[in-house]
Amino acid sequence: MRLIETIAELREWSRLSRGRGRCVGLVPTMGALHAGHLALVRAARERCQAVAVSIFVNPTQFGPNEDFSRYPRTFAADCALLEAEGVDVVFAPTVEEMYNTGAATFVEVEGLSSRLDGLSRPGHFRGVATVVTKLFLAAEPDHAFFGQKDAAQVAVLRRMTRDLALPLELVVCPIVREPDGLAMSSRNRYLSPEERTQALVLHRALNAVETEFRAGNTRAESLKALAAAIFASEPAVRIDYIEAVDWETLLPVEEATSGTLVAVAAWVGATRLIDNLIL
Ligand code: PAJ
Repeated sequence: MRLIETIAELREWSRLSRGRGRCVGLVPTMGALHAGHLALVRAARERCQAVAVSIFVNPTQFGPNEDFSRYPRTFAADCALLEAEGVDVVFAPTVEEMYNTGAATFVEVEGLSSRLDGLSRPGHFRGVATVVTKLFLAAEPDHAFFGQKDAAQVAVLRRMTRDLALPLELVVCPIVREPDGLAMSSRNRYLSPEERTQALVLHRALNAVETEFRAGNTRAESLKALAAAIFASEPAVRIDYIEAVDWETLLPVEEATSGTLVAVAAWVGATRLIDNLIL
């Protein structure tokens, strides 16, 4: 496995790989890798003969009072995991390499960027769209792999890829969960044992919504109220949002249908967690 730290070197590797007839796959991450990330890596290895994983804690997607400085950084362990998965390249640029010109140019996906997480984290999706564009331009992948775990991020990046006619395909992989249902997340390691138990309410609420929808209730307001009632059983957990939206536009729906995105975000202590379900 090769460690690459500059954009120029990554681009050269990608072009050489494609020249040798290999399909290039990119898995963007911020590191602190877990089984959810590794599922993306495996999906990439299945489709592509040349796979790069980027590890970059991107400062522009964190708000001023968010956890950029204390975001978990476990680079050596991440590399060992990726090596075992047969990854070809780890791209780990410095902040200076990615933003050496300062940051005067941003990619903004209007509308979508201010919905769901974009509403409670202003500027977040601008940072995500900008860094992912830069990663795409550096790695020039044929396929890029993202998790449904960050469903709003997927909607933003799909729209960006379409609007800019980027020459690549986005592949979206299902949410990987702990055995008890908690969606895997690098931020789960912030949770105390007590909070870890409280955090299960996100999955419980989504499960209840799915059961109710299957039983024939399609009223979004009523499905959201049901989820809120489940959250009430865990008063220490503070809801950020519970929404039923169209996954493409992230706009609320009145009637849920098959394909509707039900997304939740909540604060468990000082940790903000998200989870979702596609009906
Ligand atoms: P990060 O949170 O590290 O996640 C990297 C990728 O792993 C994302 O596509 C995310 O959706 C996926 N992922 C995380 N947890 C998952 C789970 N439990 N199951 C399946 N996939 C999961 O998302 C980011 O980083 C950044 O915003 C990034 C796209 C790298 C841009 O900086």
